[in-house]
Amino acid sequence: DGTKIKDLVDVEKGLISPRIFSDPEIYELEQEKIFSKVWNFVAHETEIPNKGDYVTRFVANDPVIVVREDEDKINVILNVCMHKGMHLCRTDCGNTKTFRCIYHGWTYKTDGTLIGAPAAKEAYQGSFDKNQFKLVNARVERYAGLIFATFNQDAPSLDEYLGDMKWYIDLYFNRTPLGMEVIGEPSRWIIKANWKSAADNFASDSYHTVMTHYSGVELGQLPPNPMFASFGVQIALENGHGIGVIGAPPNIPLPEYLALPQEIVEAAHAKLTEPQLEALRRSNFVPGTIFPHFSLLNVMQLPGLEENEYPIPFMSMRVWQPKGPNEFELLSWCLVEKEAPQAYKEASRDNYIRNFGASGMFEADDAEVWSGIARVTKGVTAKNDLKLHYIMGLDAEHEPGNWPGPGKKIAQTTYTEQNSRNFFGYWAKLMSEEK
Ligand code: FES
Ligand code: FE
Repeated sequence: DGTKIKDLVDVEKGLISPRIFSDPEIYELEQEKIFSKVWNFVAHETEIPNKGDYVTRFVANDPVIVVREDEDKINVILNVCMHKGMHLCRTDCGNTKTFRCIYHGWTYKTDGTLIGAPAAKEAYQGSFDKNQFKLVNARVERYAGLIFATFNQDAPSLDEYLGDMKWYIDLYFNRTPLGMEVIGEPSRWIIKANWKSAADNFASDSYHTVMTHYSGVELGQLPPNPMFASFGVQIALENGHGIGVIGAPPNIPLPEYLALPQEIVEAAHAKLTEPQLEALRRSNFVPGTIFPHFSLLNVMQLPGLEENEYPIPFMSMRVWQPKGPNEFELLSWCLVEKEAPQAYKEASRDNYIRNFGASGMFEADDAEVWSGIARVTKGVTAKNDLKLHYIMGLDAEHEPGNWPGPGKKIAQTTYTEQNSRNFFGYWAKLMSEEK
């Protein structure tokens, strides 16, 4: 209950019980109190560009079909047959006019309406009203090409839920007039860790860069200075969202937009406001988390800043889909501006794969750490007696600074755990709510 959650997470002091990373009861409660209540990211519009295109995903732990009805309408329907509950659509993606259940053949339109059942007249002897068996539809709202869904009729609008995060979504997901497109299907793999370890890492943890990714230092990709990933700002937003904008160390002169091709720079100038362009120029490496489990990663330049050598930027988005207290499925997409030249699109995707693909140099490091946390926090002593210390930046004074973007709290360094406290604070709030 609420009091117990307060014992587990005290963001005022920065103390968190490891129990929240391993307890099966907490995991079940999260599905009800968090994932079933808030907007879940399900797909990017460019994954389903044509009428009848669909992908299968999750809203909380409910499987859904995300299907394009027409240009303006996308449906998210529960992937469970209304007859006896069979798994209706069993493929990952495709194009269709109808979904037909393989158990008895009930057939539904892409808006979930039942249009037929084999031998319905004879089998049901006239008492069969198709209108009663429409598949369950979720609420669907979109922003900047991102499709979100929820089965919670009482949830606030997506607009309200995202709040100031929209400013950053415009900047990193939708900075050109044509917007971004996904390159291919998402890569998917299982990580034996708690989903919050990953969501928290993307919301708030620049501090791990020099240690977890030390092989980058050994290979000369990152500098040995342990402060190199600290330059920039960390921005906490309402509703648990958080973003880190890692810039360049002072005194390192850089080209304005690093290696972004001219086509994209010009297109961005046509779309973004001057404060957003200013923020883009200060963005070298940008991880962030849209609460609860949807993260972004826009890499213009690894924080290493090799002189006169600027790797091709890439943009990734990922979902940390919980599969149990110590397991999540990672879905990872690469995105690129539609306006970009084809050669750039390919180079950008290759750089994403090298660094943050399933066996990417950085990705593999992080997965090892998150699963390490899961391995050792299940014991009785760890669960009952231990508190973890998310205290970095707790006593820091917040200078106003000159960051051009919005934020609830803006730290003038990325070496802080303010976004962790923001994330877990909102998590604890939702977990303690009565209904
Ligand atoms: Fe789907 Fe019977 S369970 S048609
Ligand atoms: Fe990392």
